[in-house]
Amino acid sequence: MSDPHLPFPEGFVWGSATASYQVEGAVDIDGRGRSIWDTFCEVPGAVAGGDTGAVACDHYHRYPQDIALMAELGLGAYRFSIAWPRVQPDGRGSVNQQGLDHYRRVVDRLLEHDIVPYVTLYHWDLPQALQDRGGWPARDTAYRFADYVAIVHAALGDTVRHWITLNEPKVASHAGYGSGIHAPGIRDLDQRDRAVHHLLLAHGLGLQALRAAGHGAGQQVGITLDLSPVSPASDSPDDRAASRRIDVDSHRLFLDPVLRGAYPREAGAPFTDPAADLVRPGDLELVGAPIDFLGVNYYRRMLVRASPSGHLRAEVVLPEGVPVTAVGWPVEPDGLRELLVGLRAEHPGLPPVYLTENGAAYPDQIDADGTVHDPDRVDYLHRHLLALHAAISAGVDVRGYFAWTLIDNFEWAEGYAKRFGLVHVDYADQRRVPKTSARWLGGVARTNAVPPR
Ligand code: FCB
Repeated sequence: MSDPHLPFPEGFVWGSATASYQVEGAVDIDGRGRSIWDTFCEVPGAVAGGDTGAVACDHYHRYPQDIALMAELGLGAYRFSIAWPRVQPDGRGSVNQQGLDHYRRVVDRLLEHDIVPYVTLYHWDLPQALQDRGGWPARDTAYRFADYVAIVHAALGDTVRHWITLNEPKVASHAGYGSGIHAPGIRDLDQRDRAVHHLLLAHGLGLQALRAAGHGAGQQVGITLDLSPVSPASDSPDDRAASRRIDVDSHRLFLDPVLRGAYPREAGAPFTDPAADLVRPGDLELVGAPIDFLGVNYYRRMLVRASPSGHLRAEVVLPEGVPVTAVGWPVEPDGLRELLVGLRAEHPGLPPVYLTENGAAYPDQIDADGTVHDPDRVDYLHRHLLALHAAISAGVDVRGYFAWTLIDNFEWAEGYAKRFGLVHVDYADQRRVPKTSARWLGGVARTNAVPPR
C-alpha cells in the first residue's frame, strides 16, 4: 500500500520564527540602545498587564539551549530578527561591536546544528533615537536603515544567505502610526502614510545595499508581508466597496510597489500625487527591484462590512460558526490556499514564496505530569499544512514553512498572556517544555510529509 502521507517538494524548508524584542530580553546589556518598544511598554495601559520585553524569554542568553531544542525537534531553519538598537544604539553612526558579536555567535551556533539562518533585519524595534528624529514618517530613517543593513551584512554575510528586509511593514506603519496600538503609539494618518512609503523605501534601499555587498549567487533577499484573502460580508455594493478599500490599504499598498513597482491607483494621494512630495523620482524603481522570494505571514481571512466609522469606513467582522484562537482570529486554513493561488494568478512574475509565519495562540496549561497538550494547535498546524500542500499542488512555488513561534513570547500589545509557542515557557524560571505541537511539527519536518487528516 502506498504511504498516505502527503509529501512536500524535495528540499522544502521547515523552521520556526521569532523576533528580537519578543524573545531576547537583556535590553540593557552589552551596549544595546533603547528601542521604541522599550519606550512604549512604559506607557501606562499600552501593553496588557503592564508587561514589557525587558526580560522576555532571555533568549539573548539562552539561545544555545533554544537552538539545541530546535535541532532536537528536527527543525532545519530558524527565522530570527536582529535588533537594530543592539547594532547601532543611536540608529546611526557608531557601531556596537558587542551587538554584532552576539548575532555572530547565534549564527555560528545554528550552523553547528545544521540549522539554516533566515535573518529578518527589521521586526519593529526601531532605535528610539531615530524615532526622536521623526521615526518612519521621516525619509532619513530609510537611509539609516540601509546603512545598518550594510553593517549587518559586513558582519554576517559570509555565512547568512537568506535575508528578509522588513517584517510586515503594514503593521509597523498602520499600528505604529495609524491606530497607535503598537510602538511608537502615534495616531496620525498623515504620519502613517509617510511611514508606509519610507518603510517601503527602506526595503528598496536595504535590498540595494545587500545586492551591492552580495556574496555570490547563493544570497537570497526578500521581504515579509502579512496577507489575507479579503471578501465582502455580503453582496451589497457598500460591503463590496468596503472590502476593496481594506484590501488596497492592507495588501495592495505593499504588494504592488514591491512586485510591480507602482502604487495602486486607488491608494490615492499622497502615494499617487507627485505634488505631495512623498514619492520621489527613482523611489519606486528601488522598491520594485526584483526580490528572490516573497515572505508571506498568514493567520486569517478578512471578512469586511461597510461601517460609518473609521477612515476606511469599513470593519473586519467574524464569520459565523468559525472557531477563533485565543487572540480572536478565525481559524481559516483554506484561506491560505486561496491566498497563495490568488497571488500567483494576479502576479505572474511572483517569486518563490516562503510562509514566514503561521501559527495560533491557545490557552495552554502545563499538566500535572509536566507535559503541555495542545490539540487545538496541532489541528491548526495540520489543517494549514494541508492547505499549503494543496497550494503547492496547484502550482504555487513555496519553498518553506516557518511556524510562529518557537517559544511562547512577548506578544506585543497583548503581553505574555497570549501563547503562540511550539514550546511552553514558564516565565518564572524560564523553563522550556515542548508542547505536543512541537513534536508533531518536528515529525512533519523529519519526514517532509504531512499525514492525512
Ligand atoms: C505577526 C508578527 C509576529 C507575531 C504574530 C502573532 O503579525 O509578525 O511578531 O506577533 O503576528
